[in-house]
Amino acid sequence: MDPATRIESTLADSVLLAEATGAPPRLAAAMRHAVFPKGARIRPRLTLAVAMACGDDRPRLSSAAAASIELLHCASLVHDDMPCFDDADTRRGKPSVHRAFGEPLAVLAGDALIILAFQTLARAAPCAPERLGHVIGAVGDGVGVPFGIVAGQAWECEPAVNLSDYQRQKTGALFAAAAVAGAAAAGSTDAEAWRLLGDRLGEAYQVADDLRDAVEDEATIGKPVGRDKALGRPSAVAEFGLKGAVARLSMLADGAVASIPDCPGQTVLRGLILAETRRLLPAKLAAA
Ligand code: IPE
Ligand code: IPE
Ligand code: MG
Ligand code: MG
Repeated sequence: MDPATRIESTLADSVLLAEATGAPPRLAAAMRHAVFPKGARIRPRLTLAVAMACGDDRPRLSSAAAASIELLHCASLVHDDMPCFDDADTRRGKPSVHRAFGEPLAVLAGDALIILAFQTLARAAPCAPERLGHVIGAVGDGVGVPFGIVAGQAWECEPAVNLSDYQRQKTGALFAAAAVAGAAAAGSTDAEAWRLLGDRLGEAYQVADDLRDAVEDEATIGKPVGRDKALGRPSAVAEFGLKGAVARLSMLADGAVASIPDCPGQTVLRGLILAETRRLLPAKLAAA
């Protein structure tokens, strides 16, 4: 099965859990709304690409790891869009979850997606119980404290913020988790090397997102634009200007490519990551 099909079918199986007979149907619908249709799916694709570069001898576990990372990402978007955070009406070209289902169900759908990520991992445990601890540890580090998404978002409630810490925690950490979990699912324990790759790729991805927020339009990216400026969020564009942010993106992307660890499938992985990084710069700025 190709990686995209593995990701979509594992996510579909997971979301079906919420749709069990007797479960609250609107909660299940809100969860489905958050996960499908897909966005870039870049994080789970990274998980599977790293697992495959390391041999991928337990594909059930690597698929579960990939799906768990995407479920956590979707949960983070549901909460991030709520009025108490970025107050965004649209996501992936349709109403955000709280706009479609109301705030109480958005809180609960986000919570349930976070738990579903770990339920998904637990269901894959029998195929490699000795690896599961490493995978869960990596995934937990990507979303929790002290340096995961929750910590990153919490910097918005602090009086002073370092841009790189903020972006590495709110975005880089889940990319790091995606890479480390993919490697761990395939039996590699070299977590630090894989974390570095994910960190750099994730920070580059957030700088590219800041650029999109500044130069794209809502119809193109499927979510509101100009939010970082309107909300006074720390962003690469606010800190370095458009040109400076483009230069930073290029430096971080080069750093990501240069930090791919030694592994049996390094050449193929390098090709995939290079292709991914080349897509990051918004077309308008590439043409400029
Ligand atoms: C959006 O991530 C949030 C960021 C951390 C930049 P994506 O751009 O990957 O969102 P989807 O999954 O494609 O919708
Ligand atoms: C990423 O930052 C937020 C999360 C960690 C969910 P943004 O707030 O810039 O992401 P978008 O622009 O809403 O997708
Ligand atoms: Mg946001
Ligand atoms: Mg943004």
